[in-house]
Amino acid sequence: MLKNISPEPLSWKEEYNVNIGLLDKQHKKFLEIFNLLKKAINEGACERNISDVFFSLVYYAEHHLIQEEIYFKNYKYPNFNLHKEAHNHFINRIIKFREDFEEGKEDVCVEMYYFLEEWFNNHILKYDKEAVEFFVKKGVK
Ligand SMILES: [Fe+2]
Repeated sequence: MLKNISPEPLSWKEEYNVNIGLLDKQHKKFLEIFNLLKKAINEGACERNISDVFFSLVYYAEHHLIQEEIYFKNYKYPNFNLHKEAHNHFINRIIKFREDFEEGKEDVCVEMYYFLEEWFNNHILKYDKEAVEFFVKKGVK
């Protein structure tokens, strides 16, 4: 069931940049993973491709989320704990999707699609941006 999932991949836009090179690179990587899942769903091939999606998400979580947390700690970001909690929630949710998939639960691909879309729109484009504005003021490049 596609439930309004458009066939076009989501393109990176100038306004998504937070202007810290490494973080922008990693956010673009996240969008690539999202598009991989989107393409698989649209081609009706999600079950075949979902292992790659999980693998990429775990890599993203281990590298990007931790990198962000290192910045947060080093620059004494005041919302560090809350932001870290959001990252932990993300990781736990991905683990749960994986378990659900392995247990043969239906619609895992579509549910994960909406979860990642939410994460992109509300975490990466809002929460991360807000935090990065704090870093930029501190002179991080
Ligand atoms: Fe974050």
